[in-house]
Amino acid sequence: MRVGVLTGGGDCPGLNAVIRAVVRKGVQEYGYEFVGFRDGWRGPLEGDTVPLDVQAVRGILPRGGTILGTSRTNPFAGSGSGPSGAERIKDNLAGLGVDALIAIGGEDTLGAATKLYAEGVNVVGVPKTIDNDLGATDYTFGFDTAVNIAMEAIDRLHTTAESHHRALIVEVMGRHAGWIALHAGLAGGANVILIPEKPFSIEQVCKYVEHRFQTRYSPIVVVAEGAQPADEEFAAADQGVDSFGHARLANRGVGQLLADQIEQRTGKEARTAVLGHIQRGGTPTAFDRVLATRFGVHAIDAVHDGAYGNMVALRATDIIRVPLTEATATLKTVPPERYAEAEPFFG
Ligand code: F6P
Repeated sequence: MRVGVLTGGGDCPGLNAVIRAVVRKGVQEYGYEFVGFRDGWRGPLEGDTVPLDVQAVRGILPRGGTILGTSRTNPFAGSGSGPSGAERIKDNLAGLGVDALIAIGGEDTLGAATKLYAEGVNVVGVPKTIDNDLGATDYTFGFDTAVNIAMEAIDRLHTTAESHHRALIVEVMGRHAGWIALHAGLAGGANVILIPEKPFSIEQVCKYVEHRFQTRYSPIVVVAEGAQPADEEFAAADQGVDSFGHARLANRGVGQLLADQIEQRTGKEARTAVLGHIQRGGTPTAFDRVLATRFGVHAIDAVHDGAYGNMVALRATDIIRVPLTEATATLKTVPPERYAEAEPFFG
C-alpha cells in the first residue's frame, strides 16, 4: 500500500505533527510506504514528489510550517483544452502507484478533495486552519497557536499603549470568521473586539475607547481582518481573489481605518499593529501538537479501514469521521451568544 500526503492552502503550526503521525503509525503498524506531494494540489497535478519515510519525519514535531510545502493551487481551475485537473491527478497517482491520498487542508483544499473523491480518488481529509472556521470540527489545529501569538502581542501592546496614553488597534487574521479576534481579545483583555459576524459602529467603538481613557487605562481594540463598519461603506484596499475565487482579506486596512477614525473623533493618538503572518509562523502549542498528532493517527486508521471520502474531526474530546461533503458544507462563524460572552468586558 502506498499513501500520498499533501498539505494545501495557508500553512499553520501543526502540519508537520500530522505528517509525522501519519507516517510513524502507517509504517510501524501497517507497513505502508509513503509519497510526499509538494506544494498542495500542485504536487499531484504535476507529479512532483518528495521522499517520505520515518527518517524524513524525525524531529519535525515542534517545527512550524510544512516540510511538504504548500500552495493555493486549485486543481479544478480551468485547464484549457488539455486533460482536466482530476484526470491529471488520477494519472499521476496511478503512475506513482499511490493507492490513497491524505489531504491536509482547510475549506479550499478539502473542497477539492471532496470533488476528487466523487471522481474516484481514495481520499481522507485532515482539517487545518488558524481561522477555526470548518463547521464539522470543534477545533482545527493551528488556531490555538495563532490565538496565543496574538494574545502575547496584546500583552506587549498594553504596556506601550499605557506609556504613551494611546489607543492600540490590533488587527488579526481569520477571513470571514471572528474566532481568532474573539479568543485573543478575551485572553488579552481587549477594550472591544470587532468581528466580521457583527458589523460595528465606529461611534460606539469611540465611546468604549473614551471610557477606557477616563479610567486611566489605554484601550486595546482587537479587530478581525474581515470586520466591517455597519453604518458606512468601508473603502477597503481591493486585493483581488485567490485561485478559489475567495477575496483576500489580509492587510486590507480595517485596523488603520479604525486608528484614523479614533484619532479624528476622540482627539487621542492611535496606532495600528497588523499581526499578519506572524500568527501562522513558529512552533505549535502543546494543544495543537496533540490535536494534530491525534488527527494524523486517526487519518491513517481511516485509510487502513478503507473509509475514504471522510475527514477526521474533533467532537468534544473524541476524534470522529465525518463525510468530506459535510466537512466543507458550512462555514463555522461566531454565533451571537458567543460574542455576547465577551461584551461585559467592553468599554
Ligand atoms: O486562512 C488562513 C489565512 O491566514 C487567513 O486568516 C488569511 O486571510 C489568509 O490565510 C491569508 O492568506 P495568504 O497567506 O495567502 O496571504
